[in-house]
Amino acid sequence: MAIRFYKIYDFGIDGKEPQDMYSARTIDIENKRICLARVPSGYYAVDDVCPHAGARLGLGKCTEDEMIICPIHRYQYNLKTGRGLPKQGDYVNTYPVETRADGVYVGLEKKWWQF
Ligand code: FES
Repeated sequence: MAIRFYKIYDFGIDGKEPQDMYSARTIDIENKRICLARVPSGYYAVDDVCPHAGARLGLGKCTEDEMIICPIHRYQYNLKTGRGLPKQGDYVNTYPVETRADGVYVGLEKKWWQF
């Protein structure tokens, strides 16, 4: 599977701390909405659409144990694995994130026309 990485933050323009710790936001890559979250271990990208009832996880908050909490009914998803709490039994997709010397990049699987 080939991955194409998109630069989300440029440290030269956005500064070295472009997003607050424990915050989340929605980004749009190739018309796909993704939730980009920051916790002490780094940046994580998961689906922005909550599988419970479609709220935007990018409007949620992160916890110290690296979960994203949905702003509507407070379902929680692990930022590393995408798994919801056991009682929920659901999950969100995760996407690769690379923090490089010049910025933060999020990867999406390449489409056939991008090769
Ligand atoms: S819409 Fe996210 S928990 Fe209900």
